[in-house]
Amino acid sequence: MDLNGPALSERLAGKRIGAEVHFFDEISSTNDFVFRLGIEGAPEGTVAVADHQTKGKGRMNRVWQSPPRANLYTTILLRPAIEAAVAAQLTLLSGVAVADVLSSYCGGVTLKWPNDVRIKGRKVCGILTEMKAAGSRVDFAVAGIGININMRREDLDEAFRDISTTLREEVGRPLSRLDLAVALYEDLDRLYGRYLSEGFEPIRTLWTAYADILGKPIQVVFGGEIEQGDVLGIDEAGALLLSDGKGGTKRILAGDASVVKKP
Ligand code: BTN
Repeated sequence: MDLNGPALSERLAGKRIGAEVHFFDEISSTNDFVFRLGIEGAPEGTVAVADHQTKGKGRMNRVWQSPPRANLYTTILLRPAIEAAVAAQLTLLSGVAVADVLSSYCGGVTLKWPNDVRIKGRKVCGILTEMKAAGSRVDFAVAGIGININMRREDLDEAFRDISTTLREEVGRPLSRLDLAVALYEDLDRLYGRYLSEGFEPIRTLWTAYADILGKPIQVVFGGEIEQGDVLGIDEAGALLLSDGKGGTKRILAGDASVVKKP
């Protein structure tokens, strides 16, 4: 059975994630839709899913390729009682959930800070978390997840064909988007429950186990600035820690990370 609203609502009945399910054949962006619902006071766990996005948003104002009948485009509304300064933890938590689910289909799944899930080094999923703050606290956050599931490699934008992949290309057959979506919401629910009761530490441990850049020399580009260093890990707020080469640590809050070759 293909992805559809009634089946999703039925399979998520009674769960925190999936408390309300909004399914669209077409929408501009599930993130924009759920953000509006957040402002209107929708409950935590409200989920939007679209078969097709006409203005899928990536990080840093990029476009997220969102063709119909192929992938999963979903956004989840969360209302954790946390400081806005640590909201990046929600991106990392979502990444762990995606990595858990994709690992049940194939090997080679890794996480790349801050928001990419990769298979054998190629990006298969991106996560865009947006937040509304109330003072220094999070009022609500929307976790937007795009997973390339059944798209063929040749349908990926040419600019990304070498650095991206799809689950179908890795597994060798088309997959049920419905089953994958349900598994994702269930794992998110479990991890989010753990996060609320135990804090970020267990999520940090899980994230680190999936990370493939630990110890590697990387550069992070953000707004024209470039930072370089060997990756030490992520801190309790979800920031990336780089060694400064002099025994100190640099803390990076945002940017595009890539591994560099040492001279
Ligand atoms: C990135 O890697 O740049 C993040 C991509 C996030 C894409 C998802 S698809 C569902 C949700 N709606 C959007 O408009 N964007 C996110």
